[in-house]
Amino acid sequence: MRKKLIVGNWKMNGSQAANAELLAALKAGFNPAQSELALCAPAPYLLQLQAALQGSGIDWGAQDVSAHEGGAYTGEVSAAMLRDCGSRYVIVGHSERRQYHGESDDLVALKAQRALAAGLTPIVCVGETLPDREAGRTEFVVKRQLSAVIHAVGHCCSEIVVAYEPVWAIGTGLSASAEQAQAVHAVLRAQLRAATAQAERNRILYGGSMNAANAAELLRQPDIDGGLIGGASLKAASFLSIAAAS
Ligand code: G3P
Repeated sequence: MRKKLIVGNWKMNGSQAANAELLAALKAGFNPAQSELALCAPAPYLLQLQAALQGSGIDWGAQDVSAHEGGAYTGEVSAAMLRDCGSRYVIVGHSERRQYHGESDDLVALKAQRALAAGLTPIVCVGETLPDREAGRTEFVVKRQLSAVIHAVGHCCSEIVVAYEPVWAIGTGLSASAEQAQAVHAVLRAQLRAATAQAERNRILYGGSMNAANAAELLRQPDIDGGLIGGASLKAASFLSIAAAS
């Protein structure tokens, strides 16, 4: 039985003062019997999360990582540095990175490889755009995105977390229905099963306008093992109600 994992993706939000308030409320309200919790924050705040969350049972991580190991790459942050700040997770291939920074499937796969090599768990995001869905290409797109990562990480693929985030559902208030999400999660599970005998260990999260009202139904689906939450992770009450719904 996979324990549900609820991950907050703060995106480019936060300040030391606002984070301190949010972290205190999350620590006070976190119930480890319900789910695992993790927060993916902007890199400058990782040390703040480490100081605040150590020993709390809540994990933390970053929203991106360099594909390079280290050295003369101005502005980049390596997987080893994220690990050094106590991170357990790192998001790779978020659609905002693919869309605004031109990240290819191969680059995302390399980032996942770097993360694993440094002892981080990559949260690999896949998802189709609205035109993809309307053209009946959803399955093709998500399988192509995941396949690049499976190919790159080989036998380590049971150690990744996958997040299915339909691009049209991100930040729009229009979540995929539980049936739509489960159908894609089942495709991804089958793809993982074909790659590893341990695919039952892989957690596949849903992301895209998940909130306190729709979380329970989404999280009840057999292949939805948690959520990757944007907007609703910025308020303790909504994030904790999603965790309680699992
Ligand atoms: O990574 C989380 C995400 O993209 C979903 O964002 O605001 O729709 O929950 P949101």
